[in-house]
Amino acid sequence: MVLYSLLTLLALAGLGSSAADHAEALSKCPGYRAANIKATANGLSADLHIAGPRCNAYGKDLDDLRLQVDVETPSRIHVKIYDAAEHVYQVPESVFPRPGTAHPSTGFKEAALGFNYTEDPFSFQITRTENSEVLFDSSAAGLVFEDQYLRMRTHLPTNANIYGFGEHSDSFRLKTEGHTITIWNADVPSLPLNANLYGSHPNYVEHRVTGSHGVFLLNSNGMDIKLDKEKTRRYLEYNIIGGVFDFYFMAGPTPIDVAKQYAEIAGLPVTVPYSGLGFHNCRWGYQDVFDVAEVVYNYSKAEIPLETMWIDIDYMEGRAIFSLDPERFPLDKMRELVAHLHANKQKFVLMVDPAVAAKNYPPFQRGVEKDIFLLNSTDQTFHGVVWPGLAAFPDWFSPDAQDYWTSEFIKFFSPEKGVDIDFLWIDMNEPSNFCEFPCLDPVAAAKGYPPPAPPVRAPPRALPGWPCAFQPAGTNCKRLDSEHRLSVPEEAGVVHNAQLTPVNAQTAGTVATSLSKWYGLSGRKLISPPYSIKNTWGPLPQKSINTSLTHKNGLTLYDTHNLYGTMMSAASRQAMLARRPTKRPLVITRSTFAGAGSHVSHWLGDNDSTWFHYLLSIRGMMQFNAIFQISMVGSDVCGFNGGVTEELCARWAMLGAFQPFYRNHNAENEKAQEFYRWKSVTEAARKAIDIRYRLLDYFYTAMMQQSRDGTPAINPVFYLYPQDNKTFGLEQQFFWGPSVLVAPVTRPGATSVDVYLPKDLFYDFYTHERIIGQGRSIKKTGQTITDIPLFLRGGVIVPLRVKSAMTTADLREQDFELLVPVGKNGTAKGRLYLDDGESLHPNATSEIEFEYRHRNRKLVARGTFGYRTTVKLARVTLLGVPSGSTKNGSSVTIINQPLTESFTINL
Ligand code: GLC
Repeated sequence: MVLYSLLTLLALAGLGSSAADHAEALSKCPGYRAANIKATANGLSADLHIAGPRCNAYGKDLDDLRLQVDVETPSRIHVKIYDAAEHVYQVPESVFPRPGTAHPSTGFKEAALGFNYTEDPFSFQITRTENSEVLFDSSAAGLVFEDQYLRMRTHLPTNANIYGFGEHSDSFRLKTEGHTITIWNADVPSLPLNANLYGSHPNYVEHRVTGSHGVFLLNSNGMDIKLDKEKTRRYLEYNIIGGVFDFYFMAGPTPIDVAKQYAEIAGLPVTVPYSGLGFHNCRWGYQDVFDVAEVVYNYSKAEIPLETMWIDIDYMEGRAIFSLDPERFPLDKMRELVAHLHANKQKFVLMVDPAVAAKNYPPFQRGVEKDIFLLNSTDQTFHGVVWPGLAAFPDWFSPDAQDYWTSEFIKFFSPEKGVDIDFLWIDMNEPSNFCEFPCLDPVAAAKGYPPPAPPVRAPPRALPGWPCAFQPAGTNCKRLDSEHRLSVPEEAGVVHNAQLTPVNAQTAGTVATSLSKWYGLSGRKLISPPYSIKNTWGPLPQKSINTSLTHKNGLTLYDTHNLYGTMMSAASRQAMLARRPTKRPLVITRSTFAGAGSHVSHWLGDNDSTWFHYLLSIRGMMQFNAIFQISMVGSDVCGFNGGVTEELCARWAMLGAFQPFYRNHNAENEKAQEFYRWKSVTEAARKAIDIRYRLLDYFYTAMMQQSRDGTPAINPVFYLYPQDNKTFGLEQQFFWGPSVLVAPVTRPGATSVDVYLPKDLFYDFYTHERIIGQGRSIKKTGQTITDIPLFLRGGVIVPLRVKSAMTTADLREQDFELLVPVGKNGTAKGRLYLDDGESLHPNATSEIEFEYRHRNRKLVARGTFGYRTTVKLARVTLLGVPSGSTKNGSSVTIINQPLTESFTINL
């Protein structure tokens, strides 16, 4: 403890030098001079030489840099400033594949962005070609490029609208004064403000009424981004402790364009299975398999559609991954639980952490044999402390890590002999480590882990309709029929002799890079660098693993820390694919880096059961979906830490239904909060799920579109109304898909909410009342705790199912209806995408475009109709008329139109 405090103090004090010394040195940094400037096929290149005596403000200045500017697409410029020798660490291409240059490149001629530079001292500007507006201007401060510190600053307009950077819980539109955002993945419970959280996303969107642009810095080192002002001028400043400046500038000009352009760089978000959009229930602290069965049973008794049941670390023996508690969660009963869920068209999920219990059990032994764990400086397995106690951490750069991970998945999650999960939950992958830095005695630190397991018990009561395994002795129970009754292997726990499906490690993104370059400079201070980022936990390795550890390929954790969760994500997706190569995996991770969305989905971590966190879920969702391109995202509904009130849980059950990932999750020892626990929450959940499910294909269509071209499925209001400056700061209402405006009640005890309606036509979702948005708020009153205000945007046709169902499988059997809310100009358009909902590469899809013109009252459907379905379009509901005299101008036309070919209907 004493040692730790000393180290902390030294770290904070920059090992002896004072903050004033550093500031003084920084003010003397000489900057760089450009020379040897050459036009290249796509842009230009130059040498940058240090322009005076080194300042060595926080390390050593590098003398010789290279500048490379490429117009990669007409809307994207790539500006890279790196060391001429190419020794400085750069994010490995195996983890973040580079988008490269579109062929043929247009060069500067037709680019929407321009690049201007000053040679001495070197600085550059990115401009919008169309109007010469300056979007980024590095002359705001001198360029500093040291081995452990990089600085670049750009001017910002006053009142700049900046969104992004993360992961944080600060306002959606960022404060631009006195605000620092730190990027360093950390396990920080309760998501405090002004703190670095689980993921790293060094990209932002700046929105102006003249256009939006985006800036992405591909750099995985720790950094502080400062938003502040000097005299009266605002600026944004990067302070980074390593790596290079690798900027991608995106031209927009709409916010949706920026989102799509970012997806071209970071990757399109993975497609999500249709059933993944169903309602999920989880909690930490289910005592045994009976507890879990009870919850599933209660949901069905309460008639709340439960699509997927989850189990947290409780199922493990001693909280060790790839093991089952033989007494509380024995294999035979787990298999029956899964069989029962599957027989009822429901799904099942288990959690997996990266840390493998360092004890005498096969998954650890196999990891040691395959040499896949991170090692310490004496080449021994590095030990930290996580849920099971002493634990080792996979080194995802180890050449055999993917094979190891896949083969453990194949064994443990075997449909034939193990626990057949449908989706996957991965956690603690910042990576989190409970052993306080400097963690000199992990064995001592592991004391108390794992905690004693709860008492073993027999089935506490009969569960009508459940297999005998879940009934007390003597209960009249049914055996699962032979189709669903799966044989139980003699040996519980780990299953041997499973067939391994080979995995292409290249696609896994986890293969070791051959390090002929970019391996990272030697001689750096890898634990306490001279510049201390504002990490919530203080020293870099605190509550994580030692940043001086070296991967099998020679890279250090100092440089790669922020990639750990994303590499685990990629490896886990591959392992899930190896089990079921043709099915879309759904993997929910806590830690992410830029580009993680191309492998996995995300939940927003350990929130609190408070009204503030209920609203925070909207911020987080908008950030991840609309800016970071991790489309499937949601919060712990009803909150994780702290007990939830009935009122808040009812409100949250409704709000969560309009977020992509919809899961009730709760912490150990907190008051139970499954939706059926209260009458009002049961009613709220039933109603919200009913609406969500009826609209599920509408939202699925939006999610599939996002996976195809990056168009966000969740729209902050300004994404759809970019000219309306009153929308720029909105973060308590949003569009779920292109049409449905969701505006939840925000305060305890309230039954009304102010909803901002831009100047456009809207319709009340429930009453179909036509509302002319005036560019101001309307008060929506009479909203009990089982209500959530929803509005449809005029002009966007919404397909929905005529009836909901208890599972998404049954939902898919229901016919469709079209809601046609006529827009201001008397027309409406919409889309419906259909496929089997689960194939990785569906071979039969329908993409139907609907268009309605009030002039001739015709509804036309055209497109492609490859997906064979017997489901029909049962009716069309027309909402409003362009200059209508009726208040609720909705009329219903009953039809029975197959969805297998184009058609025209007169309404
Ligand atoms: C972490 C997760 C949380 C989980 C708990 C136990 O705190 O964020 O969701 O319940 O670990 O596994």
